[in-house]
Amino acid sequence: MTQQSVSKQLENLGYIHAPIEKNIDLSQAILELKKKKNAVLLAHYYQDPAIQDLADYLGDSLYLAQQAAKVKADIIVFAGVHFMAETAKIINPSKKVLLPDLKAGCSLADSCPPSDFASFKALYPNAIVVTYINCSAEIKALSDIVCTSSNAKKVIESIPENQEIIFAPDKNLGRFLIKKTGRKMILWEGSCIVHEAFSFDKIITLIQKYPNAKFIAHPESESQILEIAHYVGSTSGLLQFVQTDTATNYIVATEAGILHEMQKKCPQKTFIPAPVDDDTCACSECAFMKLNTLEKLYNCLRFEQPEIQLAPEIIEKAKIPILKMLELK
Ligand code: 13P
Ligand code: SF4
Repeated sequence: MTQQSVSKQLENLGYIHAPIEKNIDLSQAILELKKKKNAVLLAHYYQDPAIQDLADYLGDSLYLAQQAAKVKADIIVFAGVHFMAETAKIINPSKKVLLPDLKAGCSLADSCPPSDFASFKALYPNAIVVTYINCSAEIKALSDIVCTSSNAKKVIESIPENQEIIFAPDKNLGRFLIKKTGRKMILWEGSCIVHEAFSFDKIITLIQKYPNAKFIAHPESESQILEIAHYVGSTSGLLQFVQTDTATNYIVATEAGILHEMQKKCPQKTFIPAPVDDDTCACSECAFMKLNTLEKLYNCLRFEQPEIQLAPEIIEKAKIPILKMLELK
């Protein structure tokens, strides 16, 4: 087979499924490639534990966006989902930003199609648009300021009192923020399938079974779940809470990947993933996040593919609300 036809075949496979040498130590090989290519690996807490352990920077959406803004390396490999890698590309248009599997999307981002959102926005011409970072670059380009679950309250409170606000795309986070800030907001009706899968009844049963356990939840969960939580916070907020709180057992309502870092930080404590409605699937795992594997990460560094590509006009417009968030003190 000629080199050209091998390349063509790899291109057809999208490089991500390219055959890998037998008996290779993938973690070691990834570390070596990262060094050789001057690449930095950013990973979200919802990634597979083996990927989390290789990251140069491990964190929640806000922390990773902040780190992306400081990267000096030539290549950014984003072990997360598409909107996160897109954000890194928007902040670093001249760098190569790689995502191990381009299909690693997000149900929440998908729940807000740009053309529908543009029509919705047109209904409220005087409103400021605050968007949760879990949205596409096109939606960011239609926004005034971006936020994450870590800084959403601060972002809302930075907007003048009588200013009309559209909050998109997560209705659950939006409702939670309305309660927290006392601000009226026009909500887009989007949601995350992972955080909406938790079963209220099963959680109550679990709380009764472990009366000393504290129940903690991510604000993308539904309001009836948030109402019974001892603590509600972003992924890093939840991680911070379990490290400073005095309880020893926790029932955790967010993507199960965070339990890896919780257990590392608090080896003497017990963490129980909150149960989901569907008995047939592990819905507290984000199937999009879990599309990234060590094999795909290795091939991604090896071939420097797949790469995030964005139109310059979108980068220019989407950059403004992201930088506004990052500059907010
Ligand atoms: P945070 O990283 O802001 O906690 O968001 C969670 C999430 O759903 C990321 O997709
Ligand atoms: Fe999107 Fe939900 Fe997965 Fe986060 S957990 S990436 S919001 S689908």
